[in-house]
Amino acid sequence: MPITTCIFDAYGTLFDVNAAAAHAAKEPAHAALAAVWPALARDWRLKQLQYTWLRAVAGVHCDFWQVTQDGLDWAMEASGLTDEATRARLLELYWELAAYPEVPAMLATLKERGFATGILSNGSPDMLDGAVSSAGIGHVLDAILSVQSVGVFKPHDKVYDLVGDHFGCERGDVLFVSSNGWDAAGAAGYGFQTVWVNRAGEPMDRLYASPAHVMPDLTKIAELV
Ligand code: LAC
Repeated sequence: MPITTCIFDAYGTLFDVNAAAAHAAKEPAHAALAAVWPALARDWRLKQLQYTWLRAVAGVHCDFWQVTQDGLDWAMEASGLTDEATRARLLELYWELAAYPEVPAMLATLKERGFATGILSNGSPDMLDGAVSSAGIGHVLDAILSVQSVGVFKPHDKVYDLVGDHFGCERGDVLFVSSNGWDAAGAAGYGFQTVWVNRAGEPMDRLYASPAHVMPDLTKIAELV
């Protein structure tokens, strides 16, 4: 089936989730991060995601900003960090994460070629608006879809339903792109055509479905469709 609609996960896929810790670690006021920021960033992300899955299974939803703060609190404690100013700075930077360098041109090419484009993310609408506007990519996105309107996190089918509800397309018309292996697998199981962007060279998740394509970054997305 020909692809009409290209949908991207946000955090880790378009926006570099490690950028907040990497950036703050270079600031003199947060020098304590210098030695621990890679572990902090990894724990922060892992806990943030674990909390989304656990809340989805337990049926205890909250917004993504809450799990982002909860994940950071766990990660800071694990790294022995207690400075409130560092916590505040890391959270502030999460609202203006850098997009990966290839993102603006890749989205512009898709738009030029007539594809519908959008974000489908666990992020709350205000967090996503902040990241999109700080990356300057709002003009090459047709929709920013947040799980907030369905009250459960990925990989619940209700989240992937948002794409068809918004664009009026069939599941097989959608190319869904995520750097999160479990999200790419969930979307493949749902019936989207999928790309897993495996920047870190990780093993593939062993789940109930597998992504159709694996790429090291986003530069070849337009060639694929
Ligand atoms: C998102 C998370 C999964 O943007 O990265 O939905």
